[in-house]
Amino acid sequence: MAPFEAIDSLSPIVPFKQAFTELLIPEDHVSTRPQDTFYVDSNTVLRPHTSAHQNELMRAGHRAFLCTGDVYRRDTIDATHYPVFHQMEGVKIYGPDAAAALVPGASREAAVEACVADLKGDLEGMVRAIFGDVEVRWVEAYFPFTDPSLELEIYFNHEWLEVLGCGMVHRDLMNNVGLGDHHGYAFGLGLERLAMVLFQIPDIRLFWSDDPRFISQFSGGANSRFKPYSSFPACYKDITFWLTPEFHENDFFALVRTVAGDLVEDVTLVDEFVHPKHGKQSHCYRINYRSMDRSLTNAEVDVLQEEVRRLATERLGVELR
Ligand code: DAH
Repeated sequence: MAPFEAIDSLSPIVPFKQAFTELLIPEDHVSTRPQDTFYVDSNTVLRPHTSAHQNELMRAGHRAFLCTGDVYRRDTIDATHYPVFHQMEGVKIYGPDAAAALVPGASREAAVEACVADLKGDLEGMVRAIFGDVEVRWVEAYFPFTDPSLELEIYFNHEWLEVLGCGMVHRDLMNNVGLGDHHGYAFGLGLERLAMVLFQIPDIRLFWSDDPRFISQFSGGANSRFKPYSSFPACYKDITFWLTPEFHENDFFALVRTVAGDLVEDVTLVDEFVHPKHGKQSHCYRINYRSMDRSLTNAEVDVLQEEVRRLATERLGVELR
């Protein structure tokens, strides 16, 4: 098997069209909204996935690569979501002959089928190298840039977990990069998510902690289970407000992030209702403040909460209750 080239120093700032259009993602797809993607300017974004580099790397002649990097998304705030995380994108291209060589003299359909079988073999090999001799299953999926599209799941710690998305690179995309007579497969996976499952790391913020109790456990590239140490106390604060018609939850989460940074563990909607008379909608969010590496004082959390309240009014125009 051709070795995969490791590529990990591409800039995370990419043109919109690389992140979406060239991947056949419609320009009005939800993931393109400013509530979901970080915009640098109207034509430039922080890459929301490493798939953003597929086209340029194929055009530049790379035929088997693993492209790793930081990716950025606005999202909910909880133990598994953080606005920056890491993905690895893999692409393998088969030349017209290579594809035919998998099944000599085969039709195009048979060649594609052979490539899919090769893709499955490669990826099953990869997850078994990471997770051991696990049971795997393939699930049909949809991604705009692959056809067919699949997801790979593994049975690990008594549950089925989705570990990656993949598929044969879409014909239109192959044509656009001048590889119309080739076949190729692509896959993408989230590194923190896999590491959290593999090492039983309970909170994604730990990857950003410099607490020696965390770092020392992995300093030797140790392939072991995370040994939890006592966590610091949580401090819950509620905020309740009347929404505006334009209200979008991710804007509120972004605002909480701006104010509290890594000191927020999760934000949950604990109550919502519509006023029976004037029809206005009300949300109550519970913010769980907790530091990964020290005890927060009540006074300091009050200051954060006050700032969240002030900015919610000022920037989102909501009416506090
Ligand atoms: N870009 C997808 C995501 O961020 C992951 C992915 C799915 C990448 C399928 C691929 C693929 O290359 O073929 O969720």
